[in-house]
Amino acid sequence: MKPKHLLLKAFCKTMLELSEKSSLEEIQKLSFWKQGEKVAQISIAGPGNMNLVLRVKTDQRSVILKQSKPFVKKFPQIPAPIDRIQVEYQFYQILNQSQTMREFVPLILGFDPENHLLLTEDLGVGKDFTEIYSGKKKLRLEEVGQLVRFLNTLHELSVTDFPDNLPMRRLNHEHIFNFPFREENGFDLDTIQPGLQALSMKIKQDEVLKEKVAELGERYLSSGKTLLHGDFYPGSWLQVDSAIKIIDPEFGFLGDREFDLGVFLAHMDLGLQGEEILSRIVDQYAHPLDHHLLNQCRGVEILRRLIGIAQLPLQLNLEQKEELLKFAKHLILN
Ligand SMILES: Nc1ncnc2c1ncn2[C@@H]1O[C@H](COP(=O)(O)OP(=O)(O)OP(=O)(O)O)[C@@H](O)[C@H]1O
Ligand SMILES: [Mg+2]
Repeated sequence: MKPKHLLLKAFCKTMLELSEKSSLEEIQKLSFWKQGEKVAQISIAGPGNMNLVLRVKTDQRSVILKQSKPFVKKFPQIPAPIDRIQVEYQFYQILNQSQTMREFVPLILGFDPENHLLLTEDLGVGKDFTEIYSGKKKLRLEEVGQLVRFLNTLHELSVTDFPDNLPMRRLNHEHIFNFPFREENGFDLDTIQPGLQALSMKIKQDEVLKEKVAELGERYLSSGKTLLHGDFYPGSWLQVDSAIKIIDPEFGFLGDREFDLGVFLAHMDLGLQGEEILSRIVDQYAHPLDHHLLNQCRGVEILRRLIGIAQLPLQLNLEQKEELLKFAKHLILN
């Protein structure tokens, strides 16, 4: 019998590790290509941290190749659940079967579970919507309509068989419900903006608030009935031509619909999108809502984006952040 480390090495060898430096020959060897199709060029598809996402041009088409690693691509010291690509595959597979949803997401072109590789349609070089945080971009009402239509249709799908995605949810749980609220979490918020650390202490020392956040965290980890995108924020929305496409469903799971909608609203708050847009979203949302739960989901997302590790390119001064922190606290407690 081989020593353990050799066995492990043999096992690891079976997974093809791709990178942005992979050669055309290496990509050509994948099982995805049609007879005679020649891989001509590879490049990074766009901004992203978690996974390797490549745009591959062949002599016939342009496609997107995504590989999940057992760690966060940008921070290899942080472990991450490798099966997240399977979740993304199943999510797209379900949506590809629905006539309405198919228009919103890329088509699946291939899946190689052994190598944790997903091949999808290239939606084109688009821009995400993170510009809304700059204070210079406001969503158009027509765009808001498209985004709500996506959620309305997603949340009415009848799905019973979907991965619980618990490893990814646990990772998210830590960064939404735990880390931002720990006094000694080692993250000096003054490096983000001087004075933010002191502001965060008012949240971190509020035991009543933290109790509510912990309860909500438990609910996030329990199972629900609605298929959720799980990360429905402007970084997952891609503007291509005149349409909005929705990508990156690796945090998808069956849960409470208020979670997706609450995250959506929170980012409208963080991007100072204004009352008209906020009320449009709630008015156009078609499914019954637990408004208390919705407020709590919205509140906790605002908090974790202001004082947690997953910071956004916000252009807010300290007073604006203080205002938002108070508002978020109010949403959670009342
Ligand atoms: N199907 C696609 N068509 C066109 N561009 C795409 C497609 N999929 C991804 N991209 C581009 O690649 C970028 C990274 O993709 P994606 O968000 O899926 O990666 P990720 O590593 O999961 O990102 P994150 O770290 O935000 O979780 C996107 O922001 C987008 O610009
Ligand atoms: Mg992602």
